[in-house]
Amino acid sequence: MTKAKTQFVCQECGAVYPKWQGQCNNCNAWNSIVEEVIEVKRAATRKVSPKLPGLLSSVSDEGVNRLETGYIELDRVLGGGIVQGSVILIGGAPGVGKSTLSLQISMNLSKNGYKILYLSGEESERQIKLRSGRLGQVEGELYLETETNIYQILHSAEELKPDFIIIDSIQTAQHPDIGAIPGSISQVRATAQELVDFAKKNGISIFLIGHITKSGVIAGPKVLEHMVDAVVYFEGDTDYQYRILRAIKNRYGSTNEIGIFEMTSGGLREVDNPSELFLSKGDDGVSGSVVVAAMEGTRPFLIEIQALVSPTVYGLPQRVATGLNVKRVALLCALLEKKVGIPLGKQDVFLNIVGGIKIEEPAIDLGIILAIVSSFRDIPMKSRLAVAGEVGLNGEIRAVTQLPVRVKEADRLGFDLFLLPEHNRKDLPGNTKLKLLFANNLFSAFKQSLFKNPK
Ligand code: TYD
Ligand code: MG
Repeated sequence: MTKAKTQFVCQECGAVYPKWQGQCNNCNAWNSIVEEVIEVKRAATRKVSPKLPGLLSSVSDEGVNRLETGYIELDRVLGGGIVQGSVILIGGAPGVGKSTLSLQISMNLSKNGYKILYLSGEESERQIKLRSGRLGQVEGELYLETETNIYQILHSAEELKPDFIIIDSIQTAQHPDIGAIPGSISQVRATAQELVDFAKKNGISIFLIGHITKSGVIAGPKVLEHMVDAVVYFEGDTDYQYRILRAIKNRYGSTNEIGIFEMTSGGLREVDNPSELFLSKGDDGVSGSVVVAAMEGTRPFLIEIQALVSPTVYGLPQRVATGLNVKRVALLCALLEKKVGIPLGKQDVFLNIVGGIKIEEPAIDLGIILAIVSSFRDIPMKSRLAVAGEVGLNGEIRAVTQLPVRVKEADRLGFDLFLLPEHNRKDLPGNTKLKLLFANNLFSAFKQSLFKNPK
């Protein structure tokens, strides 16, 4: 008998080594390299088909069928629904709600007349039945199987010919020809490859659920992300009820849209009015709080930034930010000190975004600056004021994108005042009830009456 050929694979990043070693040279992880048996293929014979490449212009662009999931938030992230025959990887931390979301989609689709196959390697049929009971009535053809063997899974899929398959999770799927344990790189790669091939060949869409590791990547392999058509992350702080879907790769749409859900006792509910989630319902007229008109993809959000500025107790002043880029905050603090003359060198600055969402957009710069100044002076901002503007290193206020959408959202939510960059004056929507204030640098911004009159 010939000795099985083996290789040593890093379980974190997928790098391959001929010999075992303690640390992976590629990702620097320790103790992540595991011996795996390589499947030995027979030498390929040189067999070709007579088919030749065709002209791109003659390829038909019809027939991109999209399955609408019934959840607008999810369809938007996917670029308008699930493309027939596509494989979508949905990643997220344990307990975030991946199985709940998948089951809800399945129930919705089966109700609308589609045939669904839900494969779970994680939970028993009874557990899934119990969960479905909390989520609503199961109608139509929703098939359930608790199976991990990939050949058995493909067999069921071939027999049933469903419109949509869910694999919960790819880390529990097992390829019998591969010696490594389920969840290891070679198992995940091999089972995912079988599923991708199956989806393409049969025009059946597949949802793969994947767990993510402590460091926030899908456990095991980056390789998995390259194999599928779309990668969607389901994020959420377990301290908050809402969950955010974010596409990080999408072959059939853009990746800058997000979908927002709320976890309730009856499962996930779509949030179609996110601004209301991120505005505190607290007292009006508290110092250090500013509402900014931010964007995520094509969607406007009004979010509240809160600052707390207080004298430093220990020698070194602290800059702490939750939901914001802390380096950006340090830069804006330096700018305030240098250009506006606000002495922050002996002050700690803490910043927070209400609701716990993360925003990286530069258009929130002006809001951060105002929140810091409001807290430092202990004077509240005028009520019902929204701001948008990027701040440059010379204190100039730069134009922001999609201004009309931001102004409309503030208008819709009943704001009275809107501070915006002078350079955006030309993009204003015609009919707004808001009183608009313009600024082209920090100096002119502070000349406007933005703060309440001190008592
Ligand atoms: P689950 O979908 O099992 O997470 P994942 O598959 O990502 O690991 O979600 C589990 C959490 O969701 C669990 O903590 C309970 C909560 N949950 C609700 O709050 N309401 C519900 O109706 C359901 C089904 C779950
Ligand atoms: Mg689960």
